[in-house]
Amino acid sequence: MPLEVTPFDPSHPDFVGLASGIALAAPLAPDTARAIDEAMNQYAVLVFRGQPLTQDEQLAFARALGPLDLGFKRVARPHARLAYQELADISNVDESGQIADRAHRRIVGNLANQLWHSDSSFQQPSARYSMLHAVVVPEWGGATEFADMRAAWDALPARDKQDLEGLHAEHYALYSRFLLGDTDYNEDQRNALPPVQWPVVRTHAGSGRRHLFIGAHATHVVEQTVAEGRMLLMDLLEHATQRAFVYSHEWQPGDLVIWDNRCTLHRGRRHDLSARRELRRATTLDIDAADAFVEEPVRGAA
Ligand code: OGA
Ligand code: MN
Repeated sequence: MPLEVTPFDPSHPDFVGLASGIALAAPLAPDTARAIDEAMNQYAVLVFRGQPLTQDEQLAFARALGPLDLGFKRVARPHARLAYQELADISNVDESGQIADRAHRRIVGNLANQLWHSDSSFQQPSARYSMLHAVVVPEWGGATEFADMRAAWDALPARDKQDLEGLHAEHYALYSRFLLGDTDYNEDQRNALPPVQWPVVRTHAGSGRRHLFIGAHATHVVEQTVAEGRMLLMDLLEHATQRAFVYSHEWQPGDLVIWDNRCTLHRGRRHDLSARRELRRATTLDIDAADAFVEEPVRGAA
């Protein structure tokens, strides 16, 4: 059966698609992978429901969509409950399988995920698709929200659009951690992922549409003073995350949600830290498979 996609949320008919017709646990045929790309370019968020996956199945599915990202794991690997480095453990569960203490090192990472962000925007290449799979979800809270950066760009007044052209923001992996008071990183960790610069306005390769590229990893605007740039970034974030541009996903176990980090921001929502919430994420890099070697030896370069 071919991939079928229908608008999921009547208030965001061109942003969120409900996808069905394929079994995610089965090997992904190349033409199905292409169909997913096409649907992603149209919608930016795809929701698959009722498809529980093992770690191996989730990883195989992700690999079929592109070379995989390690993201923040290149700075610190505090938690190795899952079998693969390429799977991010988006949970409040500790190494022994118990609900982690509030003071556990990993909880700050979950809290940082509650700031609007684009995964791995702090590295080059950054992330293309994130695929988050729900295993255990809490009764209260813990939704994930997605904001449409193409719609946010379209809705900006002409004067703002003009002012933004040519500006770049610097993105740094530890900025959001520092913001939350998590500063316990040594020099090697601080330098593991040097800051990168991205245009504040970019063109989405898959659709040709313009979009904002901002979020919690953006520290300042290169062409402006720190103060002016930070105010601009905060202002843009406020504009771009108005409810009109936001879809809120209420998780069910067995959901797999794919989002396009190029043209969306996302954030987790508050939940009871003492109630189990267990999801896992695989992420592709924003490069085509043929160029994957570009990713190789960044570390140690002068
Ligand atoms: C992520 C993320 C938010 C959440 O997995 O990249 O930001 O709701 N998750 O857990
Ligand atoms: Mn994230």
